Amino acid sequence: MSFRLWPEDASAAARQIDALCIFLTAVSAFFVAVIALAIVYFCAKYRAGSVADRAPLAFPVMRLEIAWTVFPLLLTMVMFGWGATLYFDLQRPPADALEIVVVGKQWMWKVQHAPGAREINELHVPLGRAVKLTMTSQDVIHSFYIPAFRVKQDVVPGRYTTEWFKPTRLGTYHLFCAEFCGTAHSQMIGRVVVMEPADYASWLSGGGEAPAVAGERLYNSLGCASCHNPGSPVHSPPLAGLFGRKVQLRDGRIVTADEGYIRNSLVNPQADIVAGYEPMMPTFQNVVNEEQILQLIAYMKSLVGKPPEPAK
Ligand code: CUA
Repeated sequence: MSFRLWPEDASAAARQIDALCIFLTAVSAFFVAVIALAIVYFCAKYRAGSVADRAPLAFPVMRLEIAWTVFPLLLTMVMFGWGATLYFDLQRPPADALEIVVVGKQWMWKVQHAPGAREINELHVPLGRAVKLTMTSQDVIHSFYIPAFRVKQDVVPGRYTTEWFKPTRLGTYHLFCAEFCGTAHSQMIGRVVVMEPADYASWLSGGGEAPAVAGERLYNSLGCASCHNPGSPVHSPPLAGLFGRKVQLRDGRIVTADEGYIRNSLVNPQADIVAGYEPMMPTFQNVVNEEQILQLIAYMKSLVGKPPEPAK
């Protein structure tokens, strides 16, 4: 068995994160060694009763002070700049990323692909394509951790968090929950399978109903249409083309209609009232579950770029 200091790397970011980690470790190790050796040396040299020169220092102390202030400052600025650059890269998924939805619960990961395929404790992704996960939890805090991709992100009830990566190597990799979430936390594990894009496409084609289609059915069965469709007698904000737009609220704030905004408008509709409308929408908390909310969001997304439905 070979000895490994690092897990295998299978994403575009992994090598870069490893390089930063090695740099930080090397700098720390260097100073630990220098300081420890100096301590041992001086302990021996100036031990009680030893013959050593104990006269006051006679060299330019100011220059030394400046040197050991400026040099560590530059070194830590390199660490800061390097680390911050990588952090921002990891926080900003590319616009063309493949979007996959993840819901965590005690104790499993539920994954929903946009064309319909669903899986549990498994995540299939194509090689060489950026993948963005939009994640939430239906109970407690979990954390979606793929060591081979060097990504880990808390999955929090009541909000959406994201994580992205670009797989660079075919294979099967560990998936862990990295947040203690109850008695079976240690069993909340799975695998990530990186496939050739063509294999991924054929794997996807065996999937079920697209979430946007399920979302449209929910939209109609929950009665959303009776207020929100054009031509409705109720004065309510139109939803076609809403996703991704800026929205002016009654209290003067301007927010982006992203996943979090739409989720909040469903479970806590009094929070963000659109300018020009009355707070009359009931809450759908406990009416729809997290996966249904995500289906409704998928439906909202599918309406972008489509002409609004004619009045019925
Ligand atoms: Cu979920 Cu630990």
